[in-house]
Amino acid sequence: MALVNSREMFKKAYEGGYAIGAFNVNNMEIIQGITTAASELNAPLILQVSAGARKYANHTYLVKLVEAALALNDLPIVLHLDHGDSFELCKSCIDGGFTSVMIDGSHLPFEENIALTRRVVEYAHERNVTVEGELGRLAGIEDAINVSAEDASYTRPEEVEEFVEKTGCDSLAIAIGTSHGAFKFKPGQKPQLRFDILDEVARRLPGFPIVLHGASSVIPKYVEMINTYGGNMPDAIGIPEEMLRQAARGAVCKINIDSDLRLAMTATIRKVFHDKPAEFDPRKYLGPAREAIAEIVAHKIEHVLGCAGKA
Ligand code: G3H
Ligand code: 13P
Ligand code: ZN
Repeated sequence: MALVNSREMFKKAYEGGYAIGAFNVNNMEIIQGITTAASELNAPLILQVSAGARKYANHTYLVKLVEAALALNDLPIVLHLDHGDSFELCKSCIDGGFTSVMIDGSHLPFEENIALTRRVVEYAHERNVTVEGELGRLAGIEDAINVSAEDASYTRPEEVEEFVEKTGCDSLAIAIGTSHGAFKFKPGQKPQLRFDILDEVARRLPGFPIVLHGASSVIPKYVEMINTYGGNMPDAIGIPEEMLRQAARGAVCKINIDSDLRLAMTATIRKVFHDKPAEFDPRKYLGPAREAIAEIVAHKIEHVLGCAGKA
């Protein structure tokens, strides 16, 4: 199957009350682990690449790896730019074969965010590429940018209609209390999402696909493994799975997951080195890491996203 854009995928997800997993990729094992799980469960898939991942692995390598996954798996796959921060980066990804881009103007004043997003949409739509915009600001770390909890801000529902109408974007990422990375809540703080904001956004944009970033659950099993095998992440707390399921049943059509894959991979590799301190064949630790990725992605598809069998 060829790459697809997100339009049809989101329409079906909205109508079917489920969400598509958007998993961050930056190497072969991650792509293989994700696509193996999605293929076994016949689930539609978004593979997304951040600017940092693209710099790390190289655009051409990543596109060719995703092409290999398409050749070997009969699945609809979207290749998406995560957190594009400029028109030029989005253009480069569109010209280089991506079928979807995010232009993240969430840190800009409202009118500037609209103008930048509009510019990307015009370029993208002429080439059948879909565009995700963002309103509101998540806390947490992405690439070298660290947004403190104080600088984060919830999406203002009263802005969403104007934003979508003026930009023509195909989906909208909103801030309702999720955040990037493995430390989403303070120790002792009860994880909470602003479902009132999500509901109000959905009411104002009927049928329009909403995106949740920073949606890893920070699976305790992997945090425990990391801490058991020499790591130290005592206060890692993520988004409870039942909250994500609730969001996926409604207007949320895309759920971004990166940290959970990193944790599963790192925990598994730490265990290999603990059990076999003399191991030095990369296949002996990257292989189990790839299996751990497949396991966690299968879990997400079945128990969080609800998209099994929807490919
Ligand atoms: O939202 C950010 C993603 O987790 C990607 O992270 O920019 O470190 O590749 P990265
Ligand atoms: P997590 O850090 O919660 O996995 O979020 C990833 C993300 O939003 C990528 O854009
Ligand atoms: Zn994100």
